[in-house]
Amino acid sequence: MSEEVFQPLIEAALQARSQSIAPFSSFQVGAAVRAESGKVYTGCNIESASYGLTVCAERVAIWKALSEGERHFTELAVVADTETLTPPCGTCRQIIWEFAKSANIVFANLRGETETFQIAELLPRAFDARFLKSAGK
Ligand code: THU
Repeated sequence: MSEEVFQPLIEAALQARSQSIAPFSSFQVGAAVRAESGKVYTGCNIESASYGLTVCAERVAIWKALSEGERHFTELAVVADTETLTPPCGTCRQIIWEFAKSANIVFANLRGETETFQIAELLPRAFDARFLKSAGK
C-alpha cells in the first residue's frame, strides 16, 4: 500500500491523538479510518474514572464513521508514541473484524515508523455472526 494513501491518514490520526483524554494511563492514541466514500473519520482514546468504560481511539473513529452511515472502509491508521508500534487491543480487533474487515491497517509512531497489516493476521479464527447463524445446525 502506497505512502500517499497512508500518510494523510497517519497525519489525521496524529492530529486526533492530540485530543486524547488519558488522565489515568497518560497513554495517548489517535486513529483515523478512511471510508470507501473517501471521507476520513478520526478518534482518540477517552478514559473514564470507571476504568472499564474507557474507549480506544480505534473504536471512537469507527463508531463515528458508522454513525454517519459509512459501512465500508479502505484504510485504518493507529498512532501512539511507542518504540514498538502499538497495535489495536483485542476488543478493537474484534470490532475491526466485524465492521472494517477489508481495511488495510497501518500502525505508526511519532518517529515516522510504520507497519501494515490485515485484520485476519491480527485476529485469526475470529468469531462473528456466521457462528450465530450456524448454531444448532
Ligand atoms: N488504547 C487505545 O486507544 N488504542 C490501542 O490500540 C491500545 C490502547 C488506549 C486505551 C487506554 O486509554 C490507553 O490506551 C491505555 O490502555
